[in-house]
Amino acid sequence: MSASHPATRFFSGSAILSLILALGVLTIGGCPSVPPDGNGGGTTEKIFGGAETCMACHAENHSDWSATRHAGAMDTLAGIGQDANESCVGCHSVGFGSGGFTSVAATPELAGVQCENCHGAGAAHAADPGNLELRPVINMSASLCGECHNDAHHPTFEEWSLSKHGSALEGLISSGFAQDTCLECHSQDYRYAIERQAEGDMDIVVPTTETASLSLECATCHSSHGGVDQEHQLLKPIASLCGECHTQGEEALPGNTPHHPQLEMLLGTGAVQEDGSALDKTHTHSTLAATDEGQACAQCHVVSHEVEDPNEGNPNVTGHTFNPFDPEITTHQADQYTGCTMCHGTAETADALRTVLQGDVVSRLAALAPYFDVEDALYIDPAGLDEADALLLANAKFNYQFVGADGSSGVHNPTNARAALDVAESIVATLSGS
Ligand code: HEC
Ligand code: HEC
Ligand code: HEC
Ligand code: HEC
Ligand code: HEC
Ligand code: HEC
Ligand code: HEC
Ligand code: HEC
Ligand code: HEC
Repeated sequence: MSASHPATRFFSGSAILSLILALGVLTIGGCPSVPPDGNGGGTTEKIFGGAETCMACHAENHSDWSATRHAGAMDTLAGIGQDANESCVGCHSVGFGSGGFTSVAATPELAGVQCENCHGAGAAHAADPGNLELRPVINMSASLCGECHNDAHHPTFEEWSLSKHGSALEGLISSGFAQDTCLECHSQDYRYAIERQAEGDMDIVVPTTETASLSLECATCHSSHGGVDQEHQLLKPIASLCGECHTQGEEALPGNTPHHPQLEMLLGTGAVQEDGSALDKTHTHSTLAATDEGQACAQCHVVSHEVEDPNEGNPNVTGHTFNPFDPEITTHQADQYTGCTMCHGTAETADALRTVLQGDVVSRLAALAPYFDVEDALYIDPAGLDEADALLLANAKFNYQFVGADGSSGVHNPTNARAALDVAESIVATLSGS
């Protein structure tokens, strides 16, 4: 579990108990917090209403949710004769052990993963929807999903906790350069508030760098209710999902510094020719992201594998570390070349290609660095150049930074990376007279 995200440390002990605690404690800005039973102190005989109760007023959420695997989670157990197994039903039903589901026969309306698993018991709210004290909570913390999406069978939460997405807010704040607008790609509660505001909810409190509390959670990529066309309840096709943040953006042009241009690099765009016009260089890797279908970034970055008899020391891998290439993460990683073998045959082949390419790109970047380093004797000072040459130099610098900022040392698009470096080297050779 991540030591960095306070919300993840909070949860331990019984899954159900901490789920209930979570519902009471982790609310987002602007939402009233409610006591653990979700009833806000109201008095009703039965605190959990069941999804059918909610349908009357939240028809769209209900119909979206009905088509998700959550809705059928008890049917899944029934299908294998495990719907009476007490060690299984807790994560496949509502409120088991805390006043909700007891058995399929007695409480059929609480079978499956439902609204109240995520929003807290809501019978009192359903009976008195105008009462703000009784409003169900909206909880977007990954630790809520992690109450069930954990353990060796599906350690999605554990892996996410190890990922940079799990600490993206902390990473931003600790950089010392944080501004509120940075939260757009670094914090889920900020993203959610902005979205609600765009939809016309002017009461929502938009978090700042001081108040934002959520990093990039499950809900950043997954729709909690379904109703999307993508597999696995993903909010968008994968290339646009990852590419919404992993992009240098349209304003990144020579003269500016490109940041995280992974989408552009993969697609073969983003770099410039000597005259500053676009350098378009696609590669077979680009085809992974060229359409709105397909695995795109997930082909190489979200790779899962199942093991024979999953246990703590030998868990399944869900791919939610997002970086199987990170040597710092040693547990919960599939083999880093799982995503490559489909095209490259064996891991050895992919590894050999990667080693040669990355070695080459890294050394070419290192050879270019001195020309842009004020401290270095080879530094080319733009102030000493005429306007045309200064523009040329800016183009070279942009390509040099583009290849570096991509972070894959050429792998995302070997053709694009090499061509961008060719341009930079040629300009530098001309201007330095070498
Ligand atoms: C009789 C109608 C009614 C029923 C039944 C009902 N709700 Fe609501 N619910 C509302 C209204 C009205 C609001 C406020 C909508 C708004 O402010 O835009 C609301 C708001 C919510 C919110 C959003 C809170 C927020 O901060 O935006 C959630 C979550 C919610 N309900 C969940 C449920 C769940 C779960 C059930 C079933 C247990 C349920 N509701 C049943 C009428 C109802
Ligand atoms: C109460 C336990 C529980 C909670 C809380 C929970 N899930 Fe699930 N989830 C399940 C179970 C069980 C299944 C599998 C149901 C089945 O296939 O029968 C599932 C399935 C899914 C799937 C479908 C997987 C696929 O291959 O299509 C997604 C996506 C998912 N959950 C995401 C989430 C997210 C995101 C959250 C938090 C916002 C969350 N879940 C919270 C128990 C839970
Ligand atoms: C800690 C919570 C939890 C418990 C306990 C639990 N499950 Fe699940 N179960 C899940 C989640 C989460 C998923 C969805 C996993 C995914 O798609 O990544 C799931 C999915 C499943 C599936 C769908 C097939 C699959 O693997 O995708 C089956 C079958 C299943 N569980 C059976 C069981 C049985 C049998 C038990 C008891 C021995 C059990 N579960 C106990 C959380 C749990
Ligand atoms: C797996 C967890 C999960 C389940 C199951 C779930 N919700 Fe939600 N719900 C969320 C999260 C997270 C948000 C806030 C982010 C978003 O809008 O996707 C939310 C937002 C809402 C909102 C406020 C925004 C809106 O869409 O109007 C309402 C109302 C709501 N849910 C009702 C329901 C109802 C009714 C059900 C059951 C039919 C349900 N939810 C099932 C997690 C869940
Ligand atoms: C368009 C989305 C987006 C915006 C806006 C954004 N970032 Fe990021 N940031 C990212 C992505 C994606 C990564 C990871 C990229 C990588 O590792 O190549 C990242 C990584 C980082 C990192 C850690 C990695 C590193 O470079 O050391 C820091 C620190 C950071 N951003 C700071 C900021 C600051 C400060 C701002 C606001 C001035 C900001 N970010 C705005 C998307 C964004
Ligand atoms: C950065 C985006 C992102 C985040 C954050 C994220 N996921 Fe996913 N998730 C994906 C993608 C992409 C896939 C599909 C992978 C594929 O198609 O190979 C996926 C697949 C899944 C699946 C279905 C595949 C499986 O393993 O059974 C489940 C369940 C799931 N995610 C749950 C979660 C939960 C729970 C969290 C939070 C702990 C989470 N995800 C966080 C992007 C994300
Ligand atoms: C909402 C914005 C956002 C989305 C969507 C997103 N990311 Fe990220 N990603 C980030 C940020 C921000 C970081 C850097 C966090 C840090 O270092 O503090 C990051 C980090 C990463 C890293 C680790 C980089 C490193 O330096 O180790 C990888 C790999 C990654 N993301 C891949 C993906 C993939 C694949 C997807 C789609 C399935 C995706 N991301 C979706 C914002 C996002
Ligand atoms: C063909 C496989 C492949 C595809 C497709 C792919 N990547 Fe990568 N990615 C890699 C490899 C290999 C690395 C280099 C890892 C290393 O050397 O540590 C990498 C590096 C990264 C890094 C930097 C990680 C770090 O440690 O600094 C980020 C961020 C990233 N990729 C995000 C993405 C995003 C977002 C997409 C989709 C737009 C994507 N990748 C598509 C294979 C791929
Ligand atoms: C969709 C199929 C596909 C996938 C998936 C894929 N590659 Fe490639 N890759 C190719 C093709 C085709 C080429 C170009 C022909 C060649 O050089 O073998 C290539 C070229 C390369 C090159 C450049 C060789 C050179 O020096 O020009 C490297 C390095 C590479 N791939 C690494 C990887 C890695 C690492 C992965 C997984 C993380 C991966 N590829 C996944 C199809 C793919």
